[in-house]
Amino acid sequence: MTEITSDGWPRPVHRVAFLFAMSAEGTGFARRLGLEDQGSLDSSLPAHWLKGRLAGSDGGSLEVAVGFAGTDPDHGVDRIGTVPAALAAHLLIRRFEPDLLVNAGTCGGFKVRGARVGSIYLGSKAFLFHDHRVPLPGFDAFGVGRIEADHPEELLEVMDAEPGVISTGDSFTPCAEELEFFEREGVHAKEMEAAAIARLARDHGLPFLAVKAVTDLVDHPEPEQEAFLRNLERVSASLGERLVRLLDWLGTRT
Ligand code: ADE
Repeated sequence: MTEITSDGWPRPVHRVAFLFAMSAEGTGFARRLGLEDQGSLDSSLPAHWLKGRLAGSDGGSLEVAVGFAGTDPDHGVDRIGTVPAALAAHLLIRRFEPDLLVNAGTCGGFKVRGARVGSIYLGSKAFLFHDHRVPLPGFDAFGVGRIEADHPEELLEVMDAEPGVISTGDSFTPCAEELEFFEREGVHAKEMEAAAIARLARDHGLPFLAVKAVTDLVDHPEPEQEAFLRNLERVSASLGERLVRLLDWLGTRT
C-alpha cells in the first residue's frame, strides 16, 4: 500500500507517469527504458503513450508511463502549450492511475539568476502563469495561479538539479509585460505546460513534480528560438539521464 510519508511524498511509488510536450524531449527517454507503445490516449486526439515495468532495487517493481500531447494533424508539429498538455495529462491519469505525475521538458532560463544551457530545475515554491492577465477581482489571482510547488529535498542532489520557480505561458517569445513579470516574481524557468498540469494534478489529488532543462536564455541577446533549436537534442538527452536518476531513486523506495 502507498503511504504518504512525513515529507508529504508517497512511499512507495508504484506507478509513475511522465508527460512531455515534444516528441524530441521524451522519445529517447521512453526508448531507453524499453517502454512499449500503448497507442492513442483517446481516439479523437493525437495524444499517445507508452508504458513498461522496471525492477526496483529490493525485488519490487515500478510501473512507468510516458505520455505525449502528440502531433497536430493540420500543422505536423507537436501540440505544445497548456490546453493539449492538460488534456493529455487528464487522459493519462484516467488510463494509468499513477501515484506520482512528472512533467518533464525544456525551458528558457535566466542568466541573471544563474542559469546556463543544460541547467536542470525542479519546480519549487509555486507554479505561475505569466500570460494570464485578468484585471478582475479574484480572477487576477486565479490567472497567475501560484499553484503550490514542492519536491522531496533529497531529489535536488539525486538529480543534480536546482530548485526553481517555473512559469508557464502559451507563447514562446515574451512580451514586455511578461519580462517584467519574470523579474518581479524571480522566475527561473519559463516554459509552456507545467502550471496547467500542476493545476490538474491538484484536481486529482496527485503528487506532482516538474523537471525542466534549460535550452536557451531569455536574458541573452541571441533569440531564444535559435538557441532552443540548436540545443534541443543535446539538452533533452541530458534531461533523460536525470530522469533515469529519479527513477533509480524511486526504485530504492519501492
Ligand atoms: N521551452 C524551451 N525554451 C523555451 C522558452 N524560451 N520559452 C518557452 N518554452 C521553452
